[in-house]
Amino acid sequence: MRDLIDAAKAARLKAHAPYSKFLVGAAMRDEQGRIHAGCNIENAAYPQGWCAEPSAISALIMAGGRRVTEVAVMGNGDALCTPCGGCRQKIREFAKGDVKIHCCTETGELIRSFTLDELLPSSFGPENLA
Ligand code: THU
Repeated sequence: MRDLIDAAKAARLKAHAPYSKFLVGAAMRDEQGRIHAGCNIENAAYPQGWCAEPSAISALIMAGGRRVTEVAVMGNGDALCTPCGGCRQKIREFAKGDVKIHCCTETGELIRSFTLDELLPSSFGPENLA
């Protein structure tokens, strides 16, 4: 878990968040054990910005990953920073319900781990369209 958290921490420091000043880092492990990280990228036209989680998902997909098996995320300070609603659904596309999401402080201390099912119960996913 430490390698994943360290990757999220490094990614957070690359965030482009001049408007909210809320830096977020996310890291995701793929089915091959590889780690992919991303940060939030805001935009002067505010709604055009996006979260750290889709940045990490994009890196994972572009590297040839197809499944998310573990996630770490952190925002500013010590407050619990869970993935937002939209990000939960984006993770859901590539993750099973038992996948762990580790929420950390900005220094990389683990605050609490959740399963995706806890954060997004009774979710809609790819199986619904199969
Ligand atoms: N943010 C994320 O990157 N991930 C989340 O799950 C929650 C929110 C970002 C979006 C925006 O750049 C900043 O945090 C403040 O909302």
